[in-house]
Amino acid sequence: LELQLNLEEIEKGGYDHFMLKEIYEQPKAIQDTYRGRLLADKGIVKMSGIDQNLEKFLNANRIIIVACGTSWHAGLVAEYIFEDMARIPVEVEYASEFRYRNPVITEKDVLIAISQSGETADTLAAIKLAKEKGAFVFGVCNVVGSSIARETHAGAYTHAGPEIGVASTKAFTTQITVLTLIALKLAQEKGTLSQSKYHEYLAELEAVPTKVEKALLSNALVEEISETYKDSSNCLYLGRGYNFPVALEGALKLKEISYIHAEGYPAAEMKHGPIALIDEHMPVVVIATKKGHYEKVVSNIQEIKSRKGRIIAIVTEGDKAVKELADHVIEVPETSEGLSPLLTTIPLQLLSYHIAVMRGCNVDQPRNLAKSVTVE
Ligand code: G6P
Repeated sequence: LELQLNLEEIEKGGYDHFMLKEIYEQPKAIQDTYRGRLLADKGIVKMSGIDQNLEKFLNANRIIIVACGTSWHAGLVAEYIFEDMARIPVEVEYASEFRYRNPVITEKDVLIAISQSGETADTLAAIKLAKEKGAFVFGVCNVVGSSIARETHAGAYTHAGPEIGVASTKAFTTQITVLTLIALKLAQEKGTLSQSKYHEYLAELEAVPTKVEKALLSNALVEEISETYKDSSNCLYLGRGYNFPVALEGALKLKEISYIHAEGYPAAEMKHGPIALIDEHMPVVVIATKKGHYEKVVSNIQEIKSRKGRIIAIVTEGDKAVKELADHVIEVPETSEGLSPLLTTIPLQLLSYHIAVMRGCNVDQPRNLAKSVTVE
């Protein structure tokens, strides 16, 4: 037993929990994901799974993304990325709903299944269904040789390395990285992005690991903020555009490991319900980075403030307007709008981590949850 404990300590590499280690591994994990694929100086994205099946993607009527949990959130980010960059219509589906609702699938559809473990039962079943209907099925998995990796026609691994913490962190950001690479590749083939935008994205993506490192510097501040909110019973997360799915993911992280009830919402939907909940006891985490509908989010923040909600805002470095309104601001470096989820996610992961630790929760193995859900 003693030997086992020591082994685990070694595996944690000096971190208190696997989750924290995996949060801190993200700069390297993202780099490992794009290594050999992103050749920014040559202006090339190279991915064999896409290169060999390019026609399938270019002739697709639409892309259907299926996934569960955090991977589904990565799928939602990908919807914004694919539609914006490559102008391909995208639908994102919970695998569990998709498989049972007699979906319309044709041979002109490309289905992308996203899964860290590559073993999720519902995602696997959705893949089998799409294959039966003649769709081309592409997998985005982390675990090499997993069932989903084997069942799909082609795919791209995330190369994030093993993820032990049940709450997914580096798998999420590396999934977004792979999906961004695919979207950029297709955008270049289709000519849907201007050359200057395309090259800007390549360069910005290459700079993401360094920027994630900077975002991680907010750790001490986030820990301090966590102290203030650790006893909350509810928390609301708001974001717009590319950062709407990040709000969903931030809320999921908090409920998974701290057992605080949390909900993510598109910021503009606040007025259709959640605003009724806001009072001085309601912390509201708002993603308010410069490029994503910034002014509109600022006015949402004003609405929260006038109802006495407590505001924790994720802002772009150097922000002034939000600083005057929010109770706390956490800065992340500036980047292209489509890449901002890779940075805004970081402080939200840290926030859930610290709150869970302070509440004495089992961060790496939260109650009732499993890392790999192989039953439906
Ligand atoms: C479980 C895990 C989540 C994960 C989800 C989907 O619920 O606890 O962290 O996001 O399954 O798993 P997958 O391996 O398919 O990404």
